[in-house]
Amino acid sequence: MILCDEKNLLFTLQTKNTTYQLKADRHGILLHTYYGPKIAGGDLSYLIRGMDRGCSPNPPEAGLDRTYSLDTLPQEYSSCGVGDFRLPSIELELPSGSRSASLRYRGFERRPGKYALEGLPAFRGGEEAAETLVITLEDTAAQVAVELYYGVFEEEDLITRAVRVINQGGEPLRLTRCASVCLDFLRSDLDLITFDGCHMMERCPDRAPLRSGVQGVGSVRGAASHQHNPFVVLCGHSASEDYGLCYGAMLLYSGSFEALAERSQYDNARLVMGLNPYHFRWTLQSGESFTAPEAAMVCSPCGLGQMSRQYHRAIRHHLIDAPCAGERRPVLINNWEATYFNFDADKLVDIAKTAAPLGIELFVMDDGWFGQRNDDNRGLGDWWVNTAKLPGGLEALVPRLKELGMTFGIWIEPEMVNEDSDLYRAHPDWALTIPRRSPTRCRNQLVLDFSRADVRDYVYAQISAVLSSADVRYVKWDMNRSLTDVYSAALPPERQGEVYHRYVLGVYDMLRRLRADYPHILVEGCAGGGGRFEGGMLYYTPQIWCSDNTDAIDRLKIQYGTSFCYPVSTMGAHVSVVPNEENGRVTPMETRGVVAMAGTFGYEMDLSKCTEEEKAIIRRQTAFFKEHYELIQRGDYYRLTSPFDHGPYTAWEHVSPDQSEALVSVVSGSVWAAQSFLTLPVKGLDPRRTYRVNDDLTLPGDVLMAAGIPLPQFPGDYTACQFYLKAE
Ligand code: DGJ
Repeated sequence: MILCDEKNLLFTLQTKNTTYQLKADRHGILLHTYYGPKIAGGDLSYLIRGMDRGCSPNPPEAGLDRTYSLDTLPQEYSSCGVGDFRLPSIELELPSGSRSASLRYRGFERRPGKYALEGLPAFRGGEEAAETLVITLEDTAAQVAVELYYGVFEEEDLITRAVRVINQGGEPLRLTRCASVCLDFLRSDLDLITFDGCHMMERCPDRAPLRSGVQGVGSVRGAASHQHNPFVVLCGHSASEDYGLCYGAMLLYSGSFEALAERSQYDNARLVMGLNPYHFRWTLQSGESFTAPEAAMVCSPCGLGQMSRQYHRAIRHHLIDAPCAGERRPVLINNWEATYFNFDADKLVDIAKTAAPLGIELFVMDDGWFGQRNDDNRGLGDWWVNTAKLPGGLEALVPRLKELGMTFGIWIEPEMVNEDSDLYRAHPDWALTIPRRSPTRCRNQLVLDFSRADVRDYVYAQISAVLSSADVRYVKWDMNRSLTDVYSAALPPERQGEVYHRYVLGVYDMLRRLRADYPHILVEGCAGGGGRFEGGMLYYTPQIWCSDNTDAIDRLKIQYGTSFCYPVSTMGAHVSVVPNEENGRVTPMETRGVVAMAGTFGYEMDLSKCTEEEKAIIRRQTAFFKEHYELIQRGDYYRLTSPFDHGPYTAWEHVSPDQSEALVSVVSGSVWAAQSFLTLPVKGLDPRRTYRVNDDLTLPGDVLMAAGIPLPQFPGDYTACQFYLKAE
């Protein structure tokens, strides 16, 4: 609910468990007055007190009042160059050459339903789910209006934000920073949690108290990156899974981003998050506007677990789109780790012949099916079927898979090109390259200039011809390198600072077309594994390959970190061979299955080489997953232990929304001989109901949550067990 007190210019955003408040003060400064546990109302600006701070300047409206300074006030969208020395939200390069922005309140509008953003991903919500508040600020000297958008999802405790900057003057001006969210706190005794790593070890939580000055993460790689995720948390020092005040901030953006937190001189904190100002310089002609990507905030008064569950619900209900929103997604087999580039139609059909009777439903043909793509040095850009490998094209292959009862999916990497390709030979200027410099290679490929509509149209036409040639039900959209040499041959020198963002808008345009033209196709995102795992992609691709690391034990960490923001149903996870191809570790097939089914679930190995015993396990796993699909994919997710704690085991739990059933999964670390008796307290049950545990134990919910389930002696390193709990 959005409460607008027009007299006092006080705006209170109420969700089920939280309250967010802002107020335009006597000088028109939009103050941030409160974000926290739900309160009935009232004006929280009494918390903000003025004091003569010697080195903090005073805006002209304050006259001789030296207690009023932008440098100390908690603000909703900070300005720059006019007396707030903390992190700016916006930077303008004005026609005069000045770099400043000074914003004052001008008006508001409240609307039913959630706002949408043209060309950008955003949470979706009809009138029954969300409301919108738009606050307009103005910089009269710069002749610029700034619209702050708020989407309020009451049930999910989610508040989204976006920003539109409009040039109302007669001359062009330049925008060099435009954050999506600025969140000020009157306190700074907070921890910052970021989700960091590298290729094959993405999104590992890193937590540290805020220290004086600016700290944060970001990417200048043109994509969210393996190294840092555009999701951060600020929480009290003692906040844990089930206790403490936590604030999440998630950016729905697939390009370079920045998330900075600042602890300022008087122990206030500010979080600013948005697209990365690195190499960003956007020209706004008279009357033109720029829209910054959406950010989504969740405040949880009771711990990190609740924060995650609110994000999970919001993402599942309001970000993920049909056809996948309500349907069960297929269990898949992907041939990448089974064959790499070395396959033909018969080999694929061989794998499928083993897969289908094991309950696997979708066959995904990965990289290597097109052009001269026999290794990763050539072929990208030539999106036609290599008929030496696949005689008769998809038209011949897909019916063979269908006969086995399997649907078909295909891998593409539309944003890329190899120099050894017909596309590059014909259009070398279509790749991002800096004049007079040789282009930088990565995986021996270059990046196509997706800021250009002609380049996108060409690639889309090629790919769409392939997708229309057969009954394709799934597409894996890969992206295997970061952007360098970011220069577009199609833009003049003064607009080169727009290329990074225009590239992302181009990717979104392609994805939008793909989804519109092929609404029945499930698109999985991928970027060298988990290099672009974020909300912007999830708007178009309901699932994203979590990591190129398929080792079950490393995956415990990767999936744990990912779960802080993103639900199980978004995490691409597969069972692969042992010794694992990335780290050589040997884990039991059961364990690999238990870990992969805490994601979208599939296999990525040559099943035709499996023993009968392994096949029997796979048959059991696919049946179990399908039986408990709703619970696993749409239930509430609880992290029971952290794999980073080096304890004897890692455990997690899915609980149905009505608390009538739960599934607890446990994976051991390295075991020792004289193992102590272990019990695992579970979470989220109804304390008043009685639950049957794996049909051999019946206990009340309160007992299971307080005392726990007795764990068996682990039979070896990295072994797994599961407990299915059913309320009687
Ligand atoms: C990187 C992906 O993460 C892999 O799963 C695979 O699709 C390769 N690219 C193919 O080149």
